[in-house]
Amino acid sequence: MPSSHKRALSLPLELPVLTTPSQTAAPRVTLRAFTAADVGLVQSASRDPLIPLITSVPTTAGRPEALAFIERQHQRLISGAGWSFAIADASSDAAVGQIGLWPGQSSRRTSNPDTIGYWIGQDHRNHGYAAAALDLLTEWALTEANMRRIHLYIEPWNEGSWRTAERAGYRRDALLPSWQKVGAQWKDMYRYIRTPL
Ligand SMILES: CC(C)(COP(=O)(O)OP(=O)(O)OC[C@H]1O[C@@H](n2cnc3c(N)ncnc32)[C@H](O)[C@@H]1OP(=O)(O)O)[C@@H](O)C(=O)NCCC(=O)NCCS
Repeated sequence: MPSSHKRALSLPLELPVLTTPSQTAAPRVTLRAFTAADVGLVQSASRDPLIPLITSVPTTAGRPEALAFIERQHQRLISGAGWSFAIADASSDAAVGQIGLWPGQSSRRTSNPDTIGYWIGQDHRNHGYAAAALDLLTEWALTEANMRRIHLYIEPWNEGSWRTAERAGYRRDALLPSWQKVGAQWKDMYRYIRTPL
């Protein structure tokens, strides 16, 4: 097995299932592995103007391409790249989006920061799902996964995303000029950070 495919020692063998504590106000979310039942959500995300530019969701995916995306999410854990979860409504278990935790320095394989990325399908936005999922996964990363600091990188125009970050307890600490390529263009990014409370 090539070394790039070896599992990082710090990663667990299975994707955990994380659920918002029952006493928490709605919406409550479950973070779980993607299944074939989530194909429709992936196909709708593939028609979003932004999501295919910042993720590996293909543009205008048919069912085979959406299933291939789901298989790639399972491989993230196997390859040691990180944890990719479907965000599901905790009551119905219907998938509404995706959130990933990508270990950097905590894996000891790179000095890059530990980061989280997320998206919510267009039909499910403005219900609090992103903030609930980000808060839940950040708590898990800082406690169960022993990470010390999580970074988010958000374009300044993307108020929905930086308000999600602030709602989940992140604070903005920098504006990074020409930091990340989005499509063909280098974009400025706000950096948001959360550390253990
Ligand atoms: C950004 C995104 C994840 C937000 O998801 P969401 O589930 O609708 O967000 P929530 O309902 O949890 O809202 C969280 C906060 O953001 C605010 N918000 C959400 N969308 C907003 C928008 N378009 N404009 C301004 N504020 C917005 C909410 O009012 C809430 O703020 P509050 O706590 O101050 O009331 C979603 O719009 C999305 O997937 N966009 C495309 C992909 C993307 O941008 N991913 C992030 C890349 S960094």
